[in-house]
Amino acid sequence: MDFQSLSFPDAPMIKVSPPGPKSQEYLDFQSNTEGGAVSYPKGMPMALHKAKGATVMDVDGNVYIDFFGGAGVMNVGHSNPEVIKAAEYQLARITHALDVPTPARRTLVKMLFQVLPTEIEKVFFGGPTGTDAVEAAMKLAKYNTGRIPMIAFEGSYHGMAAGALSLTSGLQFKEDFYPLLPEVHFVPYAYCYRCVYGKKPESCDLECARYLEHVLEDPHSGVGKPAALIIEAIQGEGGSIVPPGGFIPKVRQICDTYDILLIIDEIQAGFCRTGKMFAFEHTGTVPDIMTMSKALGGLGFPISCVAFKKNLDTWTPGKHIGTFRGNVIAYAAGSAGLKFMLDHNLADYAANLGQTMLSWLKEIEKDSKIIGEARGKGLMLGVELVKDKDSKEPAPDLAIKVRSICHRHGLLIEIGGHYNNVARFLPPLILTEELALKGIEIFEDAVRNAQKTY
Ligand SMILES: Cc1ncc(COP(=O)(O)O)c(C=O)c1O
Repeated sequence: MDFQSLSFPDAPMIKVSPPGPKSQEYLDFQSNTEGGAVSYPKGMPMALHKAKGATVMDVDGNVYIDFFGGAGVMNVGHSNPEVIKAAEYQLARITHALDVPTPARRTLVKMLFQVLPTEIEKVFFGGPTGTDAVEAAMKLAKYNTGRIPMIAFEGSYHGMAAGALSLTSGLQFKEDFYPLLPEVHFVPYAYCYRCVYGKKPESCDLECARYLEHVLEDPHSGVGKPAALIIEAIQGEGGSIVPPGGFIPKVRQICDTYDILLIIDEIQAGFCRTGKMFAFEHTGTVPDIMTMSKALGGLGFPISCVAFKKNLDTWTPGKHIGTFRGNVIAYAAGSAGLKFMLDHNLADYAANLGQTMLSWLKEIEKDSKIIGEARGKGLMLGVELVKDKDSKEPAPDLAIKVRSICHRHGLLIEIGGHYNNVARFLPPLILTEELALKGIEIFEDAVRNAQKTY
């Protein structure tokens, strides 16, 4: 398929510097009427009119290249015609059914079992958002083990409800809301650019994983035996962090040794984004429980799912409930989205295009004084911005500047990372190489501009 025809032609096209007058009206209305926690329009001030493929149009007619992808939701591209068709078909039939079976639900479950590891034999649809899947996964682990403690990783992001927030490491999200869940412990992720052990990936002995083992082994570590450990196989909000190949298998082995359930959170990295259907597939590791959401809903229809090994299926009817236990439109759209991913081999496409984009970013890194590291896998890429390459002092203000310049020149990007200093790219996976290059050129210019005025 020609992915080019999925996006608006001639992107980017900036007719009026954003926010244009119409966008401004929407933004003023929003800030007068909606609560102060609204955040994305602060970094990308505009109001959106429509979107197609890897491009979006604001209400002033500006067209942007989308490296943001709805925070990793739009894997098959905005307004994907095949997904729209499936959603429209379903819309005219039934749209809400709690957990009563429907043809759409059965089709999605069958399709999921085509792509899940064979060891994972059960799925469960909970509330509509990724956070809900994390909450359900943690409850399932606690229910099965009868244990309370949990282990999560520095740099993690698992969501915003109290349980998931407890497992999220960023203090800016949680410190105003204590007490959260007790007995959640954080250990270092394999964040090699800022290795807490001062090691280099070429010569390290996975000290971070060894520390995890120590915590579990030493009766004086202060950490009680956990129900589960939750991890992203590639960290998203933490700054597009790809751990070295041995890290996730080592964590799996430690979980097995100490009889701890392993939950892998695929909410952001899943569904072909990193060049495999699920990011853990890069490591040959299979979780006991996994979480999915975001791209699962096809075009952003809200849905989340927990999948797990059969022996953990101990919940009795009603043990975990909710009004929106799955979403019938999302089942239909999700099945069409998954079919599109498989028919067009989006995993390989994302792997190849991601590799190309990373090589361009690595070239830019060489000449830049403020790029500490360009990294990522598939189309989950990140560029860590620093004040100085030697000291690695984080530069969150530069990241904000770069995002703002990109926006004004027609490119949408995300910011994340431990210090909010990582420019993150999560484009729809149907991005063409031509749009990818245009986007990277805008980014390069923005980095150069930001560096000049620094
Ligand atoms: C890895 C991961 N887990 C969980 C979540 C929470 O999902 P949601 O925002 O849909 O609740 C996110 C959101 O970005 C995520 O990236």
